[in-house]
Amino acid sequence: MTANNDNTTWSGRSVTCTAPINIAVIKYWGKRDEQLILPTNSSLSASLDQDHLKSTTTASISKEFKRDRLWLNGKEESIENPRIQNCLIEIRRRARKRKHNDDSKSEMLNWSVHICSENNFPTAAGLASSAAGYACLVYTLSKLYDINGDVSDIARRGSGSACRSIYGGFVQWTVGEKKNGSDSIAKVVADVDHWPEMRVLVLVVSDQKKHTSSTNGMRNSVNTSDFLRYRAEHVVPSRMEEMIKAIEEKDYQKFAELTIKDSNQMHAVCLDTYPPISYMNDTSRKIINMIHAFNKYQGELKVAYTYDAGPNAVLYLLDEHVPDVVSLINYYFPPCDNIRETFIRGLKVDFKTDISQELKDVVPLEPSPGAIKYVISTKVGQGPQILPNEASLLNENGLPNKLLQ
Ligand code: DP6
Repeated sequence: MTANNDNTTWSGRSVTCTAPINIAVIKYWGKRDEQLILPTNSSLSASLDQDHLKSTTTASISKEFKRDRLWLNGKEESIENPRIQNCLIEIRRRARKRKHNDDSKSEMLNWSVHICSENNFPTAAGLASSAAGYACLVYTLSKLYDINGDVSDIARRGSGSACRSIYGGFVQWTVGEKKNGSDSIAKVVADVDHWPEMRVLVLVVSDQKKHTSSTNGMRNSVNTSDFLRYRAEHVVPSRMEEMIKAIEEKDYQKFAELTIKDSNQMHAVCLDTYPPISYMNDTSRKIINMIHAFNKYQGELKVAYTYDAGPNAVLYLLDEHVPDVVSLINYYFPPCDNIRETFIRGLKVDFKTDISQELKDVVPLEPSPGAIKYVISTKVGQGPQILPNEASLLNENGLPNKLLQ
């Protein structure tokens, strides 16, 4: 039993885990069933390295706890949130099914749970925080209650994209055909060691909360966009096959082209929504122009961009091109003086502060100081991890170690 040993009078069980964010290269945009969170098309993402971006969750059960409670990023939140309830109810249902023969363990299922979760990056900034958060919640609860087997379908009930964060490497969420959603689950396409040269740069344009949530945005798209239906029926199925092949064969040219086209198509669906939704801002569009000019100058695709429901860009590129691409970003989007030291975070990058005149001549931009707040340099990473008891976010009384005032 993974008991918390800090306090001998405390009888219970506690588990702490981490989970990654994921960034899709074939986008999920649209639900065919809002209640079960079933998508209109399959999607595919890479989970990112948890050294730089992760959620951490501790879940504890004790017969001394009076009721279920939840703290997110240092603040108590209602555990009655329907999506959290859907995850919790399904986890407990599976645990009951498994443990009905073992009385001592069945008793624990009636105890209340305390859950404490935090991200090491801004919440709701278009950085897939709900994906990491729900994947972490479900994974942690599955370990707490000894549930074996795939739990990506439970994470999906928290936030669709969360199902992909249940695994590391490149992960597909299959659209599925069944009405109950049992076949709409995540599957590993290639594990974390398959394409070790792949790097990811997260360009944080804004760390403010997004204006239209993905949930509301995609609901409006499903209700009003004909292009969404066309995309789901006629584009994604074959594009998905090509993308899986490109990843299996480590064909960067194909991977980059499909990534760029799929991001642009998701945002075209947003524009086809009535009234239109626009997640990108001027800086996002300048980054797109810069990357197309750079790739053209290089004579092949050296870097691919993708955008979720916000203005931040995520770039997928091979490690040998990271210094040139970061030099380019630093030249056209230089940091304000006070953050020069922390502009590039995560994996170390040796870049230059100037670029060639030839390149300047072909990029149709003037430098925009301060438009990119910072860059997280990272790579494809592992799935959820279990941490030792010392890493618990809850103390021996089941209350958070850190609370916001
Ligand atoms: C643009 O998973 O956040 O990031 O299922 O309503 O919680 P809900 O939406 P969410 O949508 C993410 C959409 C996206 C694209 C993607 O990650 O595939």
